[in-house]
Amino acid sequence: MPCPYWIAIVAALVPTFFLMGRRKAPRPGPDSRKQIHETRILADVAKMEEKRNSSLEMGSMSHGLSRTEYHVFLSFRGPDTRANFTDSLYHTLLDKGISVFIDKQGIDVGDEISPEIYQAIDDSKICIPIFSKDYASSSWCLHELEHMMQRWKTNELEVMPIFYDVEPCDVKLETRVYADALTLHKEKRGAEIVQRWMEALREVTGIKGWDTKNTGHGELAHLIARKVSVKLKVSSVHISDHLVGMDESANEVVDLLNVEYKDVRLIGMWGMGGIGKTTLGKVVYNKLSTNFDSCSFISDIREASQGSSLLNVQRRLLSDIVGNVGVELSSIDHGKNMIKNRFCKKKVLIFLDDVDHENQLMALVAKEEWFGSGSRIIVTTRDISVFCKLQDQFEHCLIYEVKELNNLTALRLFSKHAFRCNSPPNAFLSLSEKVIAKTGGLPLAIEVIGSLLCGKKEERVWQDTLKKMEYCQQKDVKKKLMLSYQALDHLQQQIFLDIACFLAGRDKSYPYYMWDGCGFFPSEGIDILLLMSLVKIREKNKLWMHDQLKDLGKSIVYEENCKDPTKGSRVWWDWQGGPDIVQQKKGTGTAAAYYDQSEVPLQDFVLTSKDFIEAPNIRFLELSDWALSGDFGDLFSELRWLTWCGCPKEMQATNFCPKNLVILDLSWSSSIDEHWAGWTQLKVATRLKVLNLSHCIMLKETTELSAFLSLEKLILEGCEMLTKLSDSIGMLKY
Ligand SMILES: *[C@@H]1O[C@H](CO)[C@@H](O)[C@H](O)[C@H]1NC(C)=O
Ligand SMILES: *[C@@H]1O[C@H](CO)[C@@H](O)[C@H](O)[C@H]1NC(C)=O
Ligand SMILES: *[C@@H]1O[C@H](CO)[C@@H](O)[C@H](O)[C@H]1NC(C)=O
Repeated sequence: MPCPYWIAIVAALVPTFFLMGRRKAPRPGPDSRKQIHETRILADVAKMEEKRNSSLEMGSMSHGLSRTEYHVFLSFRGPDTRANFTDSLYHTLLDKGISVFIDKQGIDVGDEISPEIYQAIDDSKICIPIFSKDYASSSWCLHELEHMMQRWKTNELEVMPIFYDVEPCDVKLETRVYADALTLHKEKRGAEIVQRWMEALREVTGIKGWDTKNTGHGELAHLIARKVSVKLKVSSVHISDHLVGMDESANEVVDLLNVEYKDVRLIGMWGMGGIGKTTLGKVVYNKLSTNFDSCSFISDIREASQGSSLLNVQRRLLSDIVGNVGVELSSIDHGKNMIKNRFCKKKVLIFLDDVDHENQLMALVAKEEWFGSGSRIIVTTRDISVFCKLQDQFEHCLIYEVKELNNLTALRLFSKHAFRCNSPPNAFLSLSEKVIAKTGGLPLAIEVIGSLLCGKKEERVWQDTLKKMEYCQQKDVKKKLMLSYQALDHLQQQIFLDIACFLAGRDKSYPYYMWDGCGFFPSEGIDILLLMSLVKIREKNKLWMHDQLKDLGKSIVYEENCKDPTKGSRVWWDWQGGPDIVQQKKGTGTAAAYYDQSEVPLQDFVLTSKDFIEAPNIRFLELSDWALSGDFGDLFSELRWLTWCGCPKEMQATNFCPKNLVILDLSWSSSIDEHWAGWTQLKVATRLKVLNLSHCIMLKETTELSAFLSLEKLILEGCEMLTKLSDSIGMLKY
């Protein structure tokens, strides 16, 4: 069974895998990956003939790995699994380009385990113990386990247990399967060591693992290899993310901003999407932030200021710099005055990320005299013309063009993603250089294409990719990124588009409920997207997608919509589109979002059942301050996720029966209470897992929950009037 909670574990990885290299094993010479692979296997076979204590000739396929010798250490009892499962796992891992330490003998040949084994565990990032019936009869295996669990406790490596033909309860010593073996060890080796082994055994069962019961060996090996790839990817990217090639440019910007001077300076970091402006800005921001009275970092201004939200951005800036302002901002001008009055005595550092219109700058940082002496403002943008007006207002309005990566740095970044090390194997050097030349030195493109080619060992595949890249214009990043999108299967593409259009920035566990409900295999899909660098999981478990990739996703959807407006898969009403788009694009969408437009003169926002008649398969619907009206019989039967903020007091919809709903979010619906007519209709949603009633301030009592027996999360944040939980809460399964 694939484990649905995996990503949570991945995201929680502590980036401390790199141990200092202690032992320099002989490395394979400059050889092709294929040859290395073969040498590797030959070495293993040869080793079977060797004595244990001879030096270990384990060539690592990813030569160039600097500090860690192995990606994975396999611990298993030879006679139980060597010939079948372990072997198939081993080869599957190798095929994915993962270097594996495997001790081919796997049997006791003496009491003392050789120091090389401990070293190999220390030099691995992930240890996989394979628990078979007789695992515990081997003191060798138990030594290995004890050692890896010690490292695990200090976060030095990951442990991924596999329960081969035993249950976790056997390993936990709750049955005789392992307990008998330990009793024997105790007689031979004394109580003290056995006590440590028992602890290790109990601890390891606390880690989520796999069992081989319901999955074929080949498939399981494949699943595990993919999880390992994801883990290695996440840990290696942690390290490469910010640092490759950043230092030099960061120092240049720091020099330009020179904090020693008392003047006010604004720097515009300008460059194309995907070139690394935000990352560079963040590095600079972190270096400088201690020099200021207050700092504010506002990401994604372009997106955040759509519609009426520029006001929200002003609020955010004010609250970062001066805390609660105590009054509601009534208009952009009001906000400007407020900023001017409150900031002029303060030395502030402000980072405005991804500005795409000069209005945004005018609303936030229009004039030098708004800011106290020594203040610094960093702006990133794709469009240099946003600075036109500011140049007259600031004495120091500096422009810094963010340049492509140089060849050397590009090669390092590429290798991180394609080979998980700092430089490519020699046989792939010239191909890598060619691919990099086609990326135009854009970090994002290098990362995405590198990931696309990761584990691909055939030159033909590389040549094909190169050819496809040649068709794109040098500057047309989207088309290059498109290659990765095309490599996804249909379901993975759906997940990608959902994230690009709606879900970037959200906690990833919630979309899982929806995708799972629709049969999209989300754990697998997200793994693949992570491996392809198309999505990342950032702090607080949030899905993160690069702007350029979000743009790609949206443009794919736009194109679908344009080709045949009745077939568009996703609809959103954004600021540019204006109200008409709702009418035009009702199509057979599967996902839609309609946001409020509070700056549009007040009017009734009503969607009727007619608007959805051609969208019987809609599975995601997000409404903000809209009413639904009409007969909804037969509609919404596929709906999995309904967000209905500001839902009106009167329930005008009839026969409303989203019977497959798994997430219902009614937050900020300040006019509904426990007597709201919608509750009765919503009782059909027997599969509901998440009910969000945050800030439903009129709610005095939770609604009757007995219909929602599968409910896992009930969110009642900010329900100020709530005094009573309905009794039926005791009936819930979770
Ligand atoms: C795996 O191999 C071992 C030893 O050769 C054997 O005892 C065991 O039955 C095999 N397991 C399976 C599932 O084939
Ligand atoms: C980088 O590599 C490309 C293609 O290999 C080459 O044309 C270019 O001159 C190189 N640039 C530098 C600065 O070496
Ligand atoms: C519940 O709603 C609140 C308010 O809209 C929101 O901040 C929060 O993220 C929501 N939680 C979930 C799990 O959707």
